[in-house]
Amino acid sequence: MSKLRLGIIGTGGRGVGSFGQAFTTTFADRVDIVGLADTNTIRAGNAAKFLGISPEIHDNAGDLASRSDVEAIVVTSPDCFHEEHALLALQNNKHVFIDKPLATTVDGCLNVIEASRRAGTVLYMGFNLRHQVVVRRLRDMAREGLFGDLFQLQAIEHYNGGRTYHSRWNRLKEFTGGLFIHKGSHDFDVLNYIMGDVRPARVSCFGSVSTLKPEGLPFEPDPGIEPGPNCTVCPYNTRCRDAYAVNASPGSISDCLFNEETAQIDGYYKNLCMYMSEKDTHDQGVAIIEYDNGATATHTECFVTPISNRQYFLEGTKGHGEGDLHANQITFEPRWSKEKIDYQLDPGTGSHGGADPVMQQNFLDCIAAGDRPTANAIDGTWSVAVAVAAELSRAERRMVEISELMDPGSDLLK
Ligand SMILES: NC(=O)c1ccc[n+]([C@@H]2O[C@H](COP(=O)([O-])OP(=O)(O)OC[C@H]3O[C@@H](n4cnc5c(N)ncnc54)[C@H](O)[C@@H]3O)[C@@H](O)[C@H]2O)c1
Repeated sequence: MSKLRLGIIGTGGRGVGSFGQAFTTTFADRVDIVGLADTNTIRAGNAAKFLGISPEIHDNAGDLASRSDVEAIVVTSPDCFHEEHALLALQNNKHVFIDKPLATTVDGCLNVIEASRRAGTVLYMGFNLRHQVVVRRLRDMAREGLFGDLFQLQAIEHYNGGRTYHSRWNRLKEFTGGLFIHKGSHDFDVLNYIMGDVRPARVSCFGSVSTLKPEGLPFEPDPGIEPGPNCTVCPYNTRCRDAYAVNASPGSISDCLFNEETAQIDGYYKNLCMYMSEKDTHDQGVAIIEYDNGATATHTECFVTPISNRQYFLEGTKGHGEGDLHANQITFEPRWSKEKIDYQLDPGTGSHGGADPVMQQNFLDCIAAGDRPTANAIDGTWSVAVAVAAELSRAERRMVEISELMDPGSDLLK
């Protein structure tokens, strides 16, 4: 079998650390990375060296997408570029993997669906949580009717690492549309996925920067000496318990991709002071969704916490379910019974609780054997619609109807 000739747009943490590494190790017999595109060509060059490959390096996505020898493209650029990069790939009839979110606007998502229909190639929406063993099993149990009709779901994310979003581009809506889009789109998709054939109808949301602001600094600055601008040069980097040394270990992936040399090109430091940096998103918040059958769901996200876990709680007419991604455990308690059934699951190996390799293999199988993507652009659009509604609700302090953002009955969503 000949290898798939593939290019990656955006050679940062995700593009190199997950896809680059997987395609040069686990899937090396199926994939040849023949091109890397990044506005920072020093970073892309370092990525190639780190991965031990010699692809052509491009300083823009268009040059990679228009190459006739490239068959598939992985889009792992910042969120605000996903629509543009997906369209470039689709207009050139490539198979495309887009990491979440599909786009940062609902119109952007609909544009991608249209382009994908015209291209007729594989468009794979990168919702890796759908491949995590707990989520997969919860969805199967829901489909098999174990919980009966689901009428209430809760998704809770506690993410210690989420505080570092406030140290890089992720903290600004111009790049992400807001953290409910950047991060929450994962969980909104899981809620939609488990809920099944019903659709989200309206959203209310609250959130704020509660801690990651100057008043939240975890030390008392000396008079007249400002903290920041990044942890590397901050005069308080030995006193601050959140100080973050991006490239601490020489030869590590972050040392190769995010160092003084790469920062000379784009000024991109991943350890801007999370307290002093400007930001227009939240560090904690909650969104409430009503589905078109009256079922409700909540998604709570907290990025200032010592723990990291995702938990899901399901209520149905036949019983109660709980999924814990950290423990890889599911509990089911049938209604009207004292019975409690625990399932201890094996997540397998690989990043994101074993989910990434399963998703990457599924993407390759979709191209090679015509398998159906586990998530497509329509799924990506529903998730972004909820996330955009959440951001709008938070900003305007009102409930937002999904129908304000798109026509839920549109042919594009069928
Ligand atoms: N599914 C997951 O679990 C998961 C995890 C991490 C990141 N992601 C997604 O991956 C994407 C990248 O995130 P990351 O953490 O790797 O970010 P990053 O900052 O580490 O990397 C982004 C890269 O894109 C490059 N870039 C910026 N503008 C570009 C442009 N116009 N054209 C080409 N390249 C450009 C940057 O130079 C950088 O190298 C995001 O969309 C994020 O949502 C998904």
